[in-house]
Amino acid sequence: MITSSPLYVYLQRPDTGQWVTVGRYSLDASGQLGRFLYAPSYLEAGFGWSIDPVNLPLIAGNPINATRYGGLHDVLRDACPDSWGRLLIQREHGLGDTAHSSAYLLLASNADRWGALAIGKSPKPSIAKLSTPKLAQLPELSEELLAMYERRPAVNPQLRRRLMATPSMGGARPKVTVQDGNAYWLVKPVLPSDTVDIPLLEHVVQRWGKAAGLNFAHTEHESAGSGSGLSVVRSLRFDRSGDQRIMAVSGASLLQTEYPGAAGSASWSYPVLATVLRQIGAPLEDSIELFSRMVFNAVIGNDDDHPRNHAIHYSHEQRRWRLTPAFDVVPNPDFTPSHLALQVCFGDRSISTQNILRDAQSFGFESQDHAKQHLETLLNDIEAGYEVVESMFTEGLRSLMGARLNEGIRRLRVDYSP
Ligand SMILES: Nc1ncnc2c1ncn2[C@@H]1O[C@H](COP(=O)(O)OP(=O)(O)OP(=O)(O)O)[C@@H](O)[C@H]1O
Ligand SMILES: [Mg+2]
Repeated sequence: MITSSPLYVYLQRPDTGQWVTVGRYSLDASGQLGRFLYAPSYLEAGFGWSIDPVNLPLIAGNPINATRYGGLHDVLRDACPDSWGRLLIQREHGLGDTAHSSAYLLLASNADRWGALAIGKSPKPSIAKLSTPKLAQLPELSEELLAMYERRPAVNPQLRRRLMATPSMGGARPKVTVQDGNAYWLVKPVLPSDTVDIPLLEHVVQRWGKAAGLNFAHTEHESAGSGSGLSVVRSLRFDRSGDQRIMAVSGASLLQTEYPGAAGSASWSYPVLATVLRQIGAPLEDSIELFSRMVFNAVIGNDDDHPRNHAIHYSHEQRRWRLTPAFDVVPNPDFTPSHLALQVCFGDRSISTQNILRDAQSFGFESQDHAKQHLETLLNDIEAGYEVVESMFTEGLRSLMGARLNEGIRRLRVDYSP
């Protein structure tokens, strides 16, 4: 059978930080069937690190076929950009809209790529180093990102070239990774099309989640006062620890669904995701945390909680996969949603106490009563957390979110009898 020339997949080892070749990906001549084969050297070394604990078990001999994303394996799709990075690659390399995902996989830079995988054409790992922009450049970076978004000429051609060279991270909004010492931050500026100050909203909500006792990615917010228009949120990358990259897999991969592309499918489900977490060996606290995030999203009205906005990462210390800190938790600023993106119980996405408690056992609660007690405490914590963060909002956002909180809490704090 004729196949395209193979792509090699490399991994930065979680133990020593060295790069190793994990395996080989190839797309057959039909352009629809992808195959991934773990390298014999990788399997023989007995590392035991599957790069996707659901879809790519460590098996020797036979290639594993990809059935989604037109023949690209889920975890490789996770290492590709979404609409923002794709746009940059299209502009830079003239790729058409119909180009195969594997073309984006190869053209996306390894420098800022999500997780601990890298891609190349040579059987031996070769990861070109690119210097990451520094935190001090934040204002220029956001200005340049905005110019790119609006298809304006470069403000600073050198910076533009750097931004064009790092399109790998997912998501729809313009973004860039910056470095500050050992810390790597994912940076997203406000856009002219935003109806409210989304970076500030995201930042305060991330802090709110923390204040309510949940595990939310740490963010910072920069603004330059009214007039300049600068408002930027940055989120500490959980897939980097200094030079060490940390393996990460999206919720879409865990749910064996496509994002974007399969909205509303039955596999878009919190109880299913909780079940998968437990199957791959994440501790009970992670599936309970997922339940709490589902409730938080329901209260604040974040209906952009799609499968690529959930993820796991590999803890080398614990030798197991863990739920990542929550990221991209942003309330819908335009209306109060009645549904979440994922089902809250089998077959139903609509927000109600009854639905939220219905499949409590899938999250690891012993009974619905236990889940109900957890829910009551959590609602109190979410209210108390709001008091900690509300002063960080502008007046407009405070009135939006104050009303949203009251409505959200009222909706869920009703006596429930099965
Ligand atoms: N703190 C973080 N650490 C590591 N990876 C992150 C972090 N935050 C986000 N990501 C990764 O970057 C991707 C894009 O980030 P994010 O979801 O914030 O962007 P977005 O453009 O707002 O997304 P969306 O298209 O969902 O609105 C995420 O899907 C996730 O893979
Ligand atoms: Mg997102």
